[in-house]
Amino acid sequence: MIDVNLRNKAMEMVEEYSGIALSDPYYPSYHIAPPVGLLNDPNGFIQWKGTYHLFYQWMPFHTGHGAKFWAHLTSRDLVDWAWQEPALAPDEWYDRTGCYSGSAVEKDDELLLFYTGNVKDDDGNRETYQCKARSEDGVSFEKVGVQIELPDGFTPHFRDPKVWKMRNEWYMVIGAQTEEKEGCIVLYRSEDLDSWTYEGILASGMGYMWECPDFFRLKDDVLLFSPQGLEEKGIDYRNMYQSGYIIGDFDKGFPEEKFRELDHGFEFYAPQTTEDDQGRRLLVGWMGMPDGGEEYFPTHDNHWIHQMTLPRELLQQGDRVIQKPVEELEKLRTDKLVEENSGSFAGNLPRNIELIMREIEEDIYIDLYDYFSIRLEGRRITIERPAMDGSGKEWRAADLVSPLTEMRMFIDQSSLEIFVNDGEIVFSSRMFPDVDTHECRVKGRSSITAWNLRAEKGAE
Ligand code: FRU
Repeated sequence: MIDVNLRNKAMEMVEEYSGIALSDPYYPSYHIAPPVGLLNDPNGFIQWKGTYHLFYQWMPFHTGHGAKFWAHLTSRDLVDWAWQEPALAPDEWYDRTGCYSGSAVEKDDELLLFYTGNVKDDDGNRETYQCKARSEDGVSFEKVGVQIELPDGFTPHFRDPKVWKMRNEWYMVIGAQTEEKEGCIVLYRSEDLDSWTYEGILASGMGYMWECPDFFRLKDDVLLFSPQGLEEKGIDYRNMYQSGYIIGDFDKGFPEEKFRELDHGFEFYAPQTTEDDQGRRLLVGWMGMPDGGEEYFPTHDNHWIHQMTLPRELLQQGDRVIQKPVEELEKLRTDKLVEENSGSFAGNLPRNIELIMREIEEDIYIDLYDYFSIRLEGRRITIERPAMDGSGKEWRAADLVSPLTEMRMFIDQSSLEIFVNDGEIVFSSRMFPDVDTHECRVKGRSSITAWNLRAEKGAE
C-alpha cells in the first residue's frame, strides 16, 4: 500500500495550491493537466473492465523533476477524466527516487502495473529496477517488488517497461543505453508475468538513449519510442527530443533507417498506446520536453506545469502511422462560432475551440493570437512561435505526401494540436500568447468552421 505520510504530503499540496493552478488563465479547459506540480509521461494506459485508466509521471512538490509518483485518472469516454488516489509513491528502497514510467496489463482479473524503480544517490550514481504492482479494484495498488535487475552490457539508463501479450506469451520492451552509449530497446519474455527471460536487443542505432518504447501491430508491427541525441537534419529534429516509430517486423527486425517522427510540433514526447475493446489503437502523449527549461513556462509561478495531448487513434496508411483525434472528442463541441465559406477570416476567437478548414485551395497563412503562425507553401507546412527561452523565433516544418485539403486544430488555453489531412501530419505544441490577445487571421481560400469547446476547467 502507498506510504500514507508521503501520500498525505502530496494531497496537502493539491489542497493548498490546486485552486491557484486551476485559476491560471493558461490552465487547460479540456486537456489533462496536474492539479499541482509537474506532469510528464503518460503511464499505464489501459481499458480495464470497461473503464479507461491513465496514469502519469507526477511530481507533486514542485514544478521540476525528481522522485515521481504515478497520478491516476479514469474515464468512461476518453473525454471526462476523474482524479483517483495516486497509485504509486516513491516509498520503497527500490524506487525511492522515483516510480518511473511503465505500463499496465490485465491478468486473472487483476490490474498489473510494470514500472521502473529509480534509485539515485547524491553523487548521481544510479540504480534501476523493473518492478510490478497489482490491484484488484483498480483504485488501490500494492507493490509486488523487483522483477528485473540491470543485465550486463547496459548503463543504468534502463527503464520504461511496456508489457503486452502475444502468441500466448508476455513480452516486455525496455528503453536502454548500451555501455558504448548507444540508444536501444531490449526485449524480455515471460510465461507468467513473474519470471522474465532476457531475449536481447530488439532495435538499436541512432542517439544515446531510447526512452519509453512501445510495441503494437497495425497492418504491420510498429515500434514506437523516444530517442535522445538525434542531430538536426534539414527540416527534421529541430526540437530538443523527438518521438517516432519504425514500421518493421517483430521477427525480422526494425531497421533504424526507417525511423519517422510521429509528431512535428514543439512539445510531443513519451507517448504511450493501448488497444481498447473496439479494437482501436489509442495514444496519449506528453506535451512537454524533458531536461530543463521549466522556468520558461509562465504556469510555473502558479504551481503547475505541462499537460497531455488529446487521446488519438492510430492507423497505418501505407508506410506511415497517422493519428486522428478520437471521435468521442466531438462531445466537447458546444456552439458554432464561425461558419465561413468565402475564404479568409479575421476576428477574435476564444482559446477553447476547434478550428476546421476544409476545401483548402491555395497556400495559406494562419496567425493565432499574435503568437503562433502556420503557413503552407507548396507541400511544406511550417509552424513558428516565439522561442520558449526568449531568444527570437523558433520553427518546425514537415512535408505533406498529398496536397493539403484539410486542417483541424484543437486550441486550448495554452496548447495547439494541428491535424493535417486527417492525421497524415500532426503538430502538437504549447503556446503562451498574451492572455488578453484573441485576434486570429486566416488567409487563403477555404471553408472555415470554429466550434466552441466545453469551457469548464480541470480534469473532473
Ligand atoms: C521520459 C522519462 C522516462 C522516465 C521518466 C521519469 O520523459 O525520462 O524515461 O521513466 O521520464 O519521470
